[in-house]
Amino acid sequence: MHSVECEDVWMIYRSLFSEKVALKEVNLKIPRNKIYGILGPNGAGKTTLISLMATLLRQTRGRIEVLGYDTISEFREIRKRINIASGNPNLIWSLTVYENLRYYSLLYGINDRKAVEELIKEFELEEFRDVEFNKLSTGSKQKLILARAFVNNPELVFLDEPTKGLDPPVARRLREKIRFLQKDLGITIVLTTHYMSEAEMLCDRITFINRGKIVAEGTKEELKRLLKMRDKITIEIEGIVPDLRLEGVFAVERDGNQLSFYVDSAEARLWEIAKEVARFGRIKNISVKEVDLEDVFNELAK
Ligand SMILES: Nc1ncnc2c1ncn2[C@@H]1O[C@H](COP(=O)(O)OP(=O)(O)OP(=O)(O)O)[C@@H](O)[C@H]1O
Ligand SMILES: [Mg+2]
Repeated sequence: MHSVECEDVWMIYRSLFSEKVALKEVNLKIPRNKIYGILGPNGAGKTTLISLMATLLRQTRGRIEVLGYDTISEFREIRKRINIASGNPNLIWSLTVYENLRYYSLLYGINDRKAVEELIKEFELEEFRDVEFNKLSTGSKQKLILARAFVNNPELVFLDEPTKGLDPPVARRLREKIRFLQKDLGITIVLTTHYMSEAEMLCDRITFINRGKIVAEGTKEELKRLLKMRDKITIEIEGIVPDLRLEGVFAVERDGNQLSFYVDSAEARLWEIAKEVARFGRIKNISVKEVDLEDVFNELAK
């Protein structure tokens, strides 16, 4: 059984004067006990999708099953077994770290002070145990928001941009923590992110959404293969190069004096491309790298 199954899901936000189709024809199966990434540009529908799966919103059309339960008719069963953390802090600002975690565990009917202390330790918040939420730094706030998502021993955790706005070392530590917890607890994590390095590091599978529709789904390798792009050849040149049509080149990007060619194989194409480009000016630099998730993202977000 999958942890989440979406069948022809549509979400239309309606107000008196307007209608916004935020999701359309979403079909998705999220495997259990993995980290699953939902990627896409701003406004693509990621938060909407996560909110539907977490039973915070109701879809306009279609069916969503989470852990085998229907999100509309059986939301109570789902809510006991899942949790969600979003990048926009929404804890009780006047309560301390300890009090917040204790409060939210009690809401789930869990009266376990030791478990709260353990969560504080797990998320390296001991130093701030008795500090009020509104006095914490952004990084510590985010740690607390993540810690709160684990108070009810969930089987499935939704993380909406878990490392948004954090400095790189803090973000990195949190990513390691997310990976560790997922493995250690044997749970499913569904996350959204704008950081490709985060998706690259954490996600076992990824779905790309653009304008409310799924445009690609698979493992990182599958996604890269899907676009048939394997390598990126970047050439810096003095001179103006016209649009070139070359075999094995799937896309060309221009950035000032730099031209980037996305190709099936750098080994097979480099010589031909360099020779062509050299006709229009002096080559100053050539670099070759494997296509990464960011390149895939840019291509799919077009
Ligand atoms: N409550 C709402 N009422 C009307 N439109 C909404 C509402 N919430 C979101 N939208 C619209 O639905 C679309 C999808 O929004 P959503 O927040 O799901 O995108 P997102 O992928 O999470 O974007 P971001 O990366 O910026 O967080 C956007 O066009 C947004 O403006
Ligand atoms: Mg969002």
